[in-house]
Amino acid sequence: MSEKVFIFDTTLRDGEQSPGASMNAEEKLLVAKQLERLKVDVIEAGFPISSPGNFEAVRTVARQIRECSVAALARTKEQDIDRAWEALRDGANPRIHLFIATSPIHMQHKLGMTPDQVVEAAVAGVQRAARYTSNIEWSAEDAGRSDMEFLCRIVEAVIAAGATTINIPDTVGYTLPHEFGDRIQQLMTRVPNVHRAIISVHCHNDLGLATANSLAAVRNGARQVECTINGLGERAGNAALEEVVMALRTRRDIMPYHTDVITEEITAASRLVSRITGFPIQPNKAVVGANAFAHESGIHQAGMLKDASTYEIMTPASVGLATNRLVLGKHSGRHAFVERLKELGYQLPDNQIERIMQRFKDLADKKKTLFDDDIRALVDDEMVRDADPYKLIRLHVASGTEDTPVAAVELQIYGESHRGAGWGEGAIHAVYNAIVHLVPGAADQVRLQRYEVRAITGGIDAQADVIVNMEREDRSVQGRGVNNDVVVASALAFLNALAKLARRPAIQQNGV
Ligand code: KIV
Ligand code: ZN
Repeated sequence: MSEKVFIFDTTLRDGEQSPGASMNAEEKLLVAKQLERLKVDVIEAGFPISSPGNFEAVRTVARQIRECSVAALARTKEQDIDRAWEALRDGANPRIHLFIATSPIHMQHKLGMTPDQVVEAAVAGVQRAARYTSNIEWSAEDAGRSDMEFLCRIVEAVIAAGATTINIPDTVGYTLPHEFGDRIQQLMTRVPNVHRAIISVHCHNDLGLATANSLAAVRNGARQVECTINGLGERAGNAALEEVVMALRTRRDIMPYHTDVITEEITAASRLVSRITGFPIQPNKAVVGANAFAHESGIHQAGMLKDASTYEIMTPASVGLATNRLVLGKHSGRHAFVERLKELGYQLPDNQIERIMQRFKDLADKKKTLFDDDIRALVDDEMVRDADPYKLIRLHVASGTEDTPVAAVELQIYGESHRGAGWGEGAIHAVYNAIVHLVPGAADQVRLQRYEVRAITGGIDAQADVIVNMEREDRSVQGRGVNNDVVVASALAFLNALAKLARRPAIQQNGV
């Protein structure tokens, strides 16, 4: 019998700490529901003390998710813990996740505390959390660079105080696999009460070793891995859920462990997170990249035709990558359309289905062949845009080799119609100029940092997927837009980014 490794997903907390990846409550709920379908064990929904928006998002997720434990982060301070509990209390199996730094560098330069004071604060934090729940996780921030003797001492103390999960983060992604595995082994052998808690790991990817370190930890006794979809997270990100889970599944022969994750939901989760955050997935990304199952060279293709196992260690179907089937046409009925949405993992309210179906039919008028990826792009785009206060009603552009490009736009801004015009160096520049003059505060404060366009499928009539990064003061956001006209997709991406900037300020993660 293989032993279970618990999967703790922190896409909604550590993941959204990536600059530009912040999500509002509705977006977090969409991702949380997909994580529930994926059957992760714990969803870390946020850091409630950090902002009212973050508190609200954690509360929304905790109230709606029934099949997973929902966790919230807190420092060891009383007000953090009380606030975390207030956000979590209606959850099905809420978990308070406390953290305090334990490395000499962090204790001295960040906290200004002695090791004894840190132990005292950690124990007091756990005792405070124990007033509310016995589901308490405690993390030793920067454990990868902490003194082993001290780490053993503090872990023993917090377990004695009531922590039931002990998380050992490699916060700065510094350790190597054999070294990190050894740290876990030392904890397993040197901490007398270690069997009363589950040992968890949380590895960052600064040296590209987050997955390898997590697996080394599992081999040495860790039974919870913290990870994020697409490896999203601070700096170079966290261990990618899809990599950890698929490595455990694919190498069962030498790793006798399993997770409860429904791996067939991985691709849908990856695409949803990418669309909501606006972070594209690199084509050669393990497991979920567009090329992860593509075989280009003649020799490889020949081998694949004879036997897929020649070059394929896992099947596309095992991660939910259905072959990009040709789908319905403009004459398809509502029933067939809803069935296909279900097959693709979407369960949507009626009003959203109507809108998406309308967009699908409009697209079918313009595009000869429609694929699953076209439907996915439409649905994800609709979900991301649903709550945006700025809607594109009409757009007209004139551009060419001789005349100055000009654009006329009509927008709905918080329900009211506004029209304007602009000109620029090119068609998209003209559209952006027209839009910034209509959206309050956009003209002088917003800077466009990146503009990227890609085709969703092959073919001359492929839909365009545009990503923009925009900055205002110290906030940076990403916006995304999909349309078969690249200029319209650009306008949608721009409006999506402006809508994000219009929301509450980015979350300050208070020293995490
Ligand atoms: O990287 C880290 O140390 C963290 C902790 C708060 C768990 O994210
Ligand atoms: Zn982290």
